[in-house]
Amino acid sequence: MPFRISVPASSANLGPGFDSMGLALGLYIHLDVEASDHHAFFAHGSEKNQENHFIWNITEQVAARYGTALPPCKVQEVSEIPLARGLGSSASAIVAGIELANQLGNLQLTNEQKLAFGTEIEGHPDNIAPALFGGLTISTMLDDDIPSVRLHDIELDLIAYIPEVELKTEVARDCLPDTYERNYAARASAMSNLVVAALYSKDYPLFGKMLENDLFHEPFRKTLIPNFDAIREKAKELGAFGTALSGAGPTMLSFVAKGNGETVKETMAKQLEGYQVKVLEIDTKGV
Ligand code: HSE
Repeated sequence: MPFRISVPASSANLGPGFDSMGLALGLYIHLDVEASDHHAFFAHGSEKNQENHFIWNITEQVAARYGTALPPCKVQEVSEIPLARGLGSSASAIVAGIELANQLGNLQLTNEQKLAFGTEIEGHPDNIAPALFGGLTISTMLDDDIPSVRLHDIELDLIAYIPEVELKTEVARDCLPDTYERNYAARASAMSNLVVAALYSKDYPLFGKMLENDLFHEPFRKTLIPNFDAIREKAKELGAFGTALSGAGPTMLSFVAKGNGETVKETMAKQLEGYQVKVLEIDTKGV
C-alpha cells in the first residue's frame, strides 16, 4: 500500500460478435487504495456503506473463495464510465473488485482465474476479457474454461454517441429470441467470422460492412435505441467504415479511418442534441 487500480471500459459485441468480442476503451474506473485502521469506501469523494457497495462485495466474494482476510484499507473510487449505456461499467466494476482482492490479499491470481471469476459473475466474458487484458478480445465459455484470444490492435479511430437515456442490459437481453433457426444462425455466425477475418487482415471496409450485418441482436434491439438508423447513415455519409451498438446499447460506436475521428465527431455532435459525442482511445493494457 498505497496503490492504484485502473480498469478500462469496454464495448462488447462489435456487431455480430455477440457475447464474444470486446474492445477495451480509454475510460476508466480508478481505485486509490491506502492502509487505514478500518475499512472505508468512498465513491467520488462521498463515503459509502461499504457492505452495500458493488465493487467491495465482489472483493469480499473473491477473498471468501480463497479464504483470505483483507487488511483494513481506505478505497477511493472515481469512475469515468457512464452507467447503463453499453460501455461495460458493470464488468469494469467486477474486474476492479477482483483486482482489489487480488492485491489486498496478495492472492497472485492468474489471468485465467480472474477471467473465470469475472465471467461467472457477469454471465458472459465479452466485457470482462477486454477490461482485464486491454485491446480487442474474443472469448467464450466452454464448460469451466474461458478460452480467450487478444487480437492485434486495430488502427482505427472510434467515435461514441452516448445518449442521456439509460438502458439496462437485462431489458435489452429480454427482447432477444430464445432460439434461432439453423440457416439463420449459420448466417449470423458467418458474419461474425468475417468481422474477425477482416480485422485480422486489416480490411477495414469489409470489417465495417460485416459489423453492420449483425443478425444475433441488433435487429431485435434497434427499436429500443434512439436514432439507430440515423446515426448509422450519417456516420457512413461522413466516411465511417461502420457503426454498431456498443454492447447492449444505447451507445453506438463508429469506426473511422485513423486521423479522421475528430472531424467526424464535430459534425456528428452538431446533429445529435442530448448526446455526448466522444472520440475514444483504445486501451491496450487492461487492468
Ligand atoms: N454481449 C452483451 C449483450 C453485452 O449484448 O447483451 C452487454 O452486457
